[in-house]
Amino acid sequence: MTSNCKRCGGTGYIVEDRSGSVYSKPCACIATEKDTLLHRDSMIPDRYRNNCVLENFTVPEKNASLQEAFLVAKKYAGDYPFFEEGKPNGLLFIGPCGVGKTHLAVSILNEILFKKKKPVRFVDLNDLYREIRASYDGSQVSEYDILTPLVETELLLVDELGCVASPWAQDTLLFLVSQRYNQSMPTILTTNYLDEPAPQEPSLTARIGVRSRSRLREMCRTVVMNGEDYRNRRHRQ
Ligand SMILES: Nc1ncnc2c1ncn2[C@@H]1O[C@H](COP(=O)(O)OP(=O)(O)OP(=O)(O)O)[C@@H](O)[C@H]1O
Ligand SMILES: [Mg+2]
Ligand SMILES: [Zn+2]
Repeated sequence: MTSNCKRCGGTGYIVEDRSGSVYSKPCACIATEKDTLLHRDSMIPDRYRNNCVLENFTVPEKNASLQEAFLVAKKYAGDYPFFEEGKPNGLLFIGPCGVGKTHLAVSILNEILFKKKKPVRFVDLNDLYREIRASYDGSQVSEYDILTPLVETELLLVDELGCVASPWAQDTLLFLVSQRYNQSMPTILTTNYLDEPAPQEPSLTARIGVRSRSRLREMCRTVVMNGEDYRNRRHRQ
């Protein structure tokens, strides 16, 4: 609510007199403020906030994997927060660099945030690890303070799964994944690491550990995306 709103005078409600009966309806300024708060709490980086929406995702005519990924993302956002009984309530976008994994995943968050007014939360794993490491150097916030909001948020997007493969990184990830697994909390993730990579390339399991991979298999529908790096395409234009 904005105290200087001209429509409602700062009350948050507009009162209408319709043939003698008085109705009150919420003013748009309430919704706007709720949007702002939800967005602030979502931690979606500015770069993605306005750019990553379903409407501006180009679905290439000849790429079945991207067509499928787009439809899955759209349906997920449309159905949320309702899920089919016995089916995973999360998504795992797998694919090479620049195919649009983060774009689609953030688009889902934006849809749910704007259209359903539900809280969502974005976290880049690289940033998370860095933040936790910084907390070990006697900072005010503890590792627990950093992880709790991610454990508790209704819908979490974990970007860049597998970016660090150290035992410590795997342990930290396992804590987050297990907590959300135990509470059946919907989780969306993106990763560059395939389950069956080319020889010499590390598999997703090798990067994140057997126990996280096993839980994610149950939690998430896997969406494999193939195609060229969209960033190169832009470069050429
Ligand atoms: N099909 C598409 N239509 C429109 N924009 C796209 C599409 N695919 C990717 N982009 C844009 O290209 C850039 C790279 O996409 P994105 O960040 O989603 O890639 P990614 O698959 O997450 O890559 P990485 O593995 O490097 O994180 C972004 O700016 C994104 O908005
Ligand atoms: Mg990405
Ligand atoms: Zn108002």
